[in-house]
Amino acid sequence: MNIIITGASRGLGYEISKILAHDNQHKILAIARDKEALGTLQSGAVHGNILAFPFDLEELAAKKEMFLSSIKKEMPHVDVLINNAGFLGKCNFDEVGCELSEKIFRVNFFAPVALTRLLLPLMGGLSNSHVVNIGSMGGFQGSAKFPGLAYYSASKAALACFTECLAAELSDTNISFNCLALGSAQTEMLEEAFPDFKAPLQAHEMATYIADFAINGQKYFNGKIIPVSISTP
Ligand SMILES: NC(=O)c1ccc[n+]([C@@H]2O[C@H](COP(=O)([O-])OP(=O)(O)OC[C@H]3O[C@@H](n4cnc5c(N)ncnc54)[C@H](OP(=O)(O)O)[C@@H]3O)[C@@H](O)[C@H]2O)c1
Repeated sequence: MNIIITGASRGLGYEISKILAHDNQHKILAIARDKEALGTLQSGAVHGNILAFPFDLEELAAKKEMFLSSIKKEMPHVDVLINNAGFLGKCNFDEVGCELSEKIFRVNFFAPVALTRLLLPLMGGLSNSHVVNIGSMGGFQGSAKFPGLAYYSASKAALACFTECLAAELSDTNISFNCLALGSAQTEMLEEAFPDFKAPLQAHEMATYIADFAINGQKYFNGKIIPVSISTP
């Protein structure tokens, strides 16, 4: 399968990429800003099937032609898109400036929306494609909420709702859209959000679930927001 994953330089995205790369039938295009970390990821792939693609997703709108033509050279068809890149931006609501609040939405909502829109012509058609949006329990209706995460959680709620809407609007295509609302997994982002909390899952454990879901989940789900959580937070 041809797989694009964002936020692959560390945390869950790094682990998901490594797991997917064990199957030499997969080609993985790994996107993030940190060139060095992506280089390490690429050179560690035993089948040579990870391609580092350093890119700042906040620049997608301005560079979309260049971005799309580079992707097309590597992948004429995209089977799986994992919108995993995220930005926490923890800050009390009354201290959040415009710039930070907009950045949270740019990375967590507008970037996956723009990337999905841009890649639509390369997805579906005669073969299936699966778009997996990585959401959060923070953006899951009725879940526990935490101080400092208002914009982050709201951006993830928007991403979840977007997933449901696209599945309805594009129901006559061969593209499935699902959102995984993650509970906690031990990564740098989690440490920033909850410094004293130890997550019940290590990054590679959560990544194992996500990698399997990205490959197989569309057989069972479309337009779903699925909580993947055994703890609070
Ligand atoms: N860990 C958890 O407990 C947890 C819980 C709920 C939801 N999630 C969600 O799961 C996803 C992964 O989380 P994580 O814990 O692995 O986070 P992380 O360790 O902070 O990693 C975030 C990734 O996003 C990338 N990224 C951020 N801004 C970017 C930009 N402008 N352009 C391209 N890439 C960008 C970062 O790469 P660069 O800095 O190299 O660009 C990094 O690879 C996120 O969407 C997060 O919201 C995580």
